[in-house]
Amino acid sequence: MNAGLIGIGKYVPPHILTNADLEKRMDTSDEWIRTMTGIQERRIADDSIDSSHMAYNAAADAIKDAGIKPEEIGLILVATVTPDQPFPSVSAMIQDQLGAKNAAAMDISAACSGYMYGIVTAKQFVESGTYDYVLVVGVEKLSKITDWEDRNTAVLFGDGAGAAVIGKVSEGRGVLSFELGADGSGGKYLYQDEKLIMNGREVFKFAVRQMGQSAINVIEKAGLTKEDVDFLIPHQANIRIMESARQRLDLPVEKMSKTVHKYGNTSSASIPISLFDDVAEGKVKDDDVIVLVGFGGGLTWGALCIKWGR
Ligand code: UT7
Repeated sequence: MNAGLIGIGKYVPPHILTNADLEKRMDTSDEWIRTMTGIQERRIADDSIDSSHMAYNAAADAIKDAGIKPEEIGLILVATVTPDQPFPSVSAMIQDQLGAKNAAAMDISAACSGYMYGIVTAKQFVESGTYDYVLVVGVEKLSKITDWEDRNTAVLFGDGAGAAVIGKVSEGRGVLSFELGADGSGGKYLYQDEKLIMNGREVFKFAVRQMGQSAINVIEKAGLTKEDVDFLIPHQANIRIMESARQRLDLPVEKMSKTVHKYGNTSSASIPISLFDDVAEGKVKDDDVIVLVGFGGGLTWGALCIKWGR
């Protein structure tokens, strides 16, 4: 019996910050941002929208899509590095707001790989029979830890949330394989010291190396080959990094998810937001083999090979 994603949801705040808006605030250009990252605009949450608000909205949609009641959820996992406050956790806050009165709740801190860590943890609880349903949310309000004086990082990030309900799926479908990893020696390349600090070059090199390799690893662990893959959803950090993963799998452009141009890098929310849009647009269909792969601060990484469908 495999666990899989039986319902998905997404929330992005309404306010759009374009590259042209950034040109007015700092020494940058639309040309540089597009060429170097693929980003054209991103969503920014205003003061009235915190991470719990975004997480709640994405989660409520995922629960509705799954066709279950909030009381049936056994565990809520929220992947975030930008919670409303250190505690109570975002997961406990939305447990109350959703009316998920039978759910335990905890947050996961694995930066941009957090959603991967959440899905893999949820899978263990569902496949062991401990919980029927686990809610996993990736949410970030990166705008509140962005150093708006630092053009090296300020142009990259955006806010948003994506969610999934994990439950049992029919024979052959669901999460076929996974890989999680960490290398704490690289923590110095991407961290928060009040504001977000990054050595872009080092993270770039790590990402190019790790994304392709993790994707290959989960395909092999699932007993499949590159030719079996229908769609790739890489963490939406930078189009050049995403392209390197796509080329490693020999996939055509249309078989890779791309939302980085409209949302920027939303960290733990980027993969679930992309998955939501890809399913909505019919790019991911029942029985497709999809590979999700992410990397981020820690350093951490994670990948999943999924046969889509309930
Ligand atoms: O979720 C994980 C989070 N992080 C990432 O995925 C980031 C990974 N890294 C990257 O995506 C890339 O390193 C960046 C897009 C951030 C930067 O690209 P790069 O090829 O590593 O460029 P660089 O940092 O070496 O900068 C090249 C030039 C520099 O100018 P000089 O020294 O060559 O004159 C920078 O000062 O580009 C300049 N630059 C900018 N110019 C205009 C840096 N940021 C900007 C900017 N606008 N926003």
